[in-house]
Amino acid sequence: MKTLLDRISKSPLILSPMVGFSDSPYRRLCRQMGSSLSVTEFVSTEQLFRSSAKAIQLFRFDESERPIIFQVFGKDPEVVLRGVSRVLHLNPDGVELNMGCSVRTVSGSGSGAGLLRTPEVARKIIRRLVSETGLPVSAKIRLGWDHDSLNYLEVTQMLEEEGVWIIGVHGRTRQMGYSGEADWERIAEIAEQRKIPVLGNGDVTSFSQAHDYLRRFGVFGVLVGRGAIGNPWIFSSRERSSLSLEARLPTICTHLRYMIDFYGDDLAAVLMRKHLTQYLRDLPEWATLKKGIYNQTSGTSLLRRLTVDFDGVLDTVDKRNFFQNV
Ligand SMILES: Cc1cc2nc3c(=O)[nH]c(=O)nc-3n(C[C@H](O)[C@H](O)[C@H](O)COP(=O)(O)O)c2cc1C
Repeated sequence: MKTLLDRISKSPLILSPMVGFSDSPYRRLCRQMGSSLSVTEFVSTEQLFRSSAKAIQLFRFDESERPIIFQVFGKDPEVVLRGVSRVLHLNPDGVELNMGCSVRTVSGSGSGAGLLRTPEVARKIIRRLVSETGLPVSAKIRLGWDHDSLNYLEVTQMLEEEGVWIIGVHGRTRQMGYSGEADWERIAEIAEQRKIPVLGNGDVTSFSQAHDYLRRFGVFGVLVGRGAIGNPWIFSSRERSSLSLEARLPTICTHLRYMIDFYGDDLAAVLMRKHLTQYLRDLPEWATLKKGIYNQTSGTSLLRRLTVDFDGVLDTVDKRNFFQNV
């Protein structure tokens, strides 16, 4: 745990888990850019319990992502434990219980943010995770179910009592979903009251804002979610808006190479489209570039397209070496 904490104290921005975005290739890239550790997308413990190959696949990772924390959701202590035990052989560096997901299908059934309504159930799950996995256990929460039940102090006290090493707090309630603003004053209140470290989360869109919030709100680190989509530079203090296409392309191509490695050539092309839109859509070149991108059916051809369309751009990253690596 000490090594994990040392790492965060040196590099306090962390890529927040996001289904569909923070997969292994993107986590790998963000680690390289300065995110201090990796947290997987959340995975259903019911599916793990049933040994669903699809669910287990979500925990595939590259060694360079370490430290890697497996995030899970569930509501039944026995199922959560049995589900998690199915993937412990993959040797994660920690396990995290999701207590913040607001999606109706998850929270409505009592998992994710639904656990904020049943802190005693959450306590049982955490207690068993701590005693039976032997791994550092963390939790990611919201402030409460709604504004009439803001139980973040009670919940974080329970987490501390049960031996959680760090708590991520998204400064909204479940009812808010993603509306309104994250309440960083309440996150600061938690950080002040708790002995264990707190990671603040919500609406951070730049490196400088993250560092400002670290100072102002007394958190140990900052989880960056949507602000990191199409913007891995946020972890290395570079403002995306100041980066030209030429400056962005080497990082984008590295991401695409990781995607090809991980998903294979065909799937990489399909999955990369959404990232490319996020990477480039603010640029004047995007309107012309996108037509040539969306019709590529393999990752390799997409990579070539990016280099051919912008001939000269990749001189900066050594074209020959670049193609050899594809
Ligand atoms: C597309 C998407 C998927 C998400 N998936 C997860 C998830 O799997 N686990 C989790 O704890 N939070 C998940 N979140 C919540 C984020 O980690 C984060 O708490 C939230 O977006 C607020 O932070 P932000 O304002 O920096 O985006 C997701 C958010 C988004 C937008």
